[in-house]
Amino acid sequence: MASELVVRACPPFRVPGQDPAPAAAELEREALQFLDPPELERARAMMPLPRQDFLAARMAQRRFAAELLEVRAQDLTASYSCPQCGSGPGITHGRPGYALEGAPAPLLLSLSRAAGWTLLAAVTAPEPGQRLGVDVEDPLGLDFDGFDAVALTPAERRAVASLREDNLLRARARLWARKEAFLKMTGEGLRRPPETLDVLDRPGVTDLAAPASGLPDDLVAAVAVG
Ligand SMILES: CC(C)(COP(=O)(O)OP(=O)(O)OC[C@H]1O[C@@H](n2cnc3c(N)ncnc32)[C@H](O)[C@@H]1OP(=O)(O)O)[C@@H](O)C(=O)NCCC(=O)NCCS
Repeated sequence: MASELVVRACPPFRVPGQDPAPAAAELEREALQFLDPPELERARAMMPLPRQDFLAARMAQRRFAAELLEVRAQDLTASYSCPQCGSGPGITHGRPGYALEGAPAPLLLSLSRAAGWTLLAAVTAPEPGQRLGVDVEDPLGLDFDGFDAVALTPAERRAVASLREDNLLRARARLWARKEAFLKMTGEGLRRPPETLDVLDRPGVTDLAAPASGLPDDLVAAVAVG
């Protein structure tokens, strides 16, 4: 299989104006059938709405991986990797991945959620040592004083200094999505101070624009491959 970057946007689980109960019941049934016990255990500790978002995203990710690997969803075992806790089938947080028949599945994966949407990215048949990160952001979530000081480098702050209102929020979100995509790619996450990571022009980091990304126009996203 040739190596390829594949991105998929999955719409919100809850549709405004529709009774969410039947879809939630179906989701719970599917999760019990397809997800692994450690994933279900993590979900059990969550409040109902975040739990549904978590389960819907994990189901979407598992189906996405199964489709790309051309196997059945139930043949995959979640096998995450956390820089602090290690990796393997018992780990369900950190960098996503699956095992297939006891061996790591040959697929890089990354996942992000914002405004109900789940964004999935994969690299099929990856090169040894290759890494992947993806992130989606809702600009409305970054409308607070102090964001630039805690999140942006001095050069990034200068780049957004003249912007106002929507343009400012979108520029912030674009930079934040690039940072989180990069930090998921390295596996560090926000343990690395984001204001020390310049992403104005970082090799390997690419913006994912709507409509090609499959996301609505009001969300912004980025992917990092390296
Ligand atoms: C990675 C991170 C920046 C994403 O946070 P976020 O913006 O709230 O969430 P997003 O929806 O964009 O992404 C969530 C997904 O990121 C992925 N992810 C989490 N940590 C990751 C890491 N270290 N490397 C790569 N991907 C990671 C997971 O797929 C997670 O999905 P899940 O909820 O189904 O497990 C944040 O979770 C983080 O900094 N984590 C690392 C902190 C850490 O190492 N803690 C130690 C735990 S013991």
